[in-house]
Amino acid sequence: MRYVSLTGGERVPALGLGTWHMGERAQARGAEAAALRRGLDLGLELIDTAEMYGEGGAEEVVGEAMAGRRDEVFLVSKVYPHNASAAGAVAACERSLARLATDRIDLYLLHWRGGVPLAETLEGFERLRAAGKIRHWGVSNFDVSDMEELVGLAGGSGAATDQVLYNLTRRGIEYDLLPWCRERNLPVMAYSPIEQGRLLSRPELKRVAALHGATPAQVALAWALRQDGVIAIPRAATPAHARENRGALDLRLAEQDLAALDRAFPPPTAARPLEVL
Ligand SMILES: NC(=O)c1ccc[n+]([C@@H]2O[C@H](COP(=O)([O-])OP(=O)(O)OC[C@H]3O[C@@H](n4cnc5c(N)ncnc54)[C@H](OP(=O)(O)O)[C@@H]3O)[C@@H](O)[C@H]2O)c1
Repeated sequence: MRYVSLTGGERVPALGLGTWHMGERAQARGAEAAALRRGLDLGLELIDTAEMYGEGGAEEVVGEAMAGRRDEVFLVSKVYPHNASAAGAVAACERSLARLATDRIDLYLLHWRGGVPLAETLEGFERLRAAGKIRHWGVSNFDVSDMEELVGLAGGSGAATDQVLYNLTRRGIEYDLLPWCRERNLPVMAYSPIEQGRLLSRPELKRVAALHGATPAQVALAWALRQDGVIAIPRAATPAHARENRGALDLRLAEQDLAALDRAFPPPTAARPLEVL
């Protein structure tokens, strides 16, 4: 496994497991939990979930997957913006903990910016941290201006990550947000790293994959993970996808591969508003 260091020095796996749309159908839950367990067996020991996913259903699936092996997992969950007042974040986290069947979340994120003042959310996160219910906190879908505002608040520089959309077709953050985070040693978590599967049929990706005897998903993930300080969290709801995605860590893209991918998926040449899904 490769690791990324959080600002305090704790190391977390660079490749994890997403859970969006898990827990939505009762008959799929067993298979979803089994796929997550398979991912853990392979060393993908960071699980990303949210109270939003399946309206709590995904957290229940994660709880089932972690049964008996909680200590292996670096667990990430997220609070809805409308729940992110000081008292609301505490209550939402306690509901998440019950669904996850655990006493702590390793990293608790504000899912996106809403109407609640950030200072109130930070107060809620600080209460949760002091009570040992969360170990770290962070944000998601924050652009540079949001991050600037955050670090200007008391305690705001304590964020452990910004989780954002990042893949070959969504490179806008390379222009400003990624350098901003890198200067501050703040890891970025890349969500939808294979663009929810839409990337996989792109010819240039297939061509680079064929050169390496790899798959397009592995190239897309190896590309996202080519740089330090980036964590990728693809969703894999089948053991086969988990195994295939784990293989991305063994793939080293050469300069000419990266150049070919740059031609097909050009890097940004100007600032763009942060894209979200
Ligand atoms: N913070 C946010 O606002 C935010 C937004 C979006 C996502 N996220 C997080 O990021 C995670 C990943 O993003 P995502 O789920 O949107 O998209 P993604 O990981 O880019 O793509 C997931 C899709 O690709 C398929 N897939 C996975 N591995 C594959 C492989 N090796 N070959 C072929 N297909 C493969 C999956 O199928 P199966 O599931 O059937 O394996 C699923 O349909 C989410 O699950 C969630 O935890 C966060």
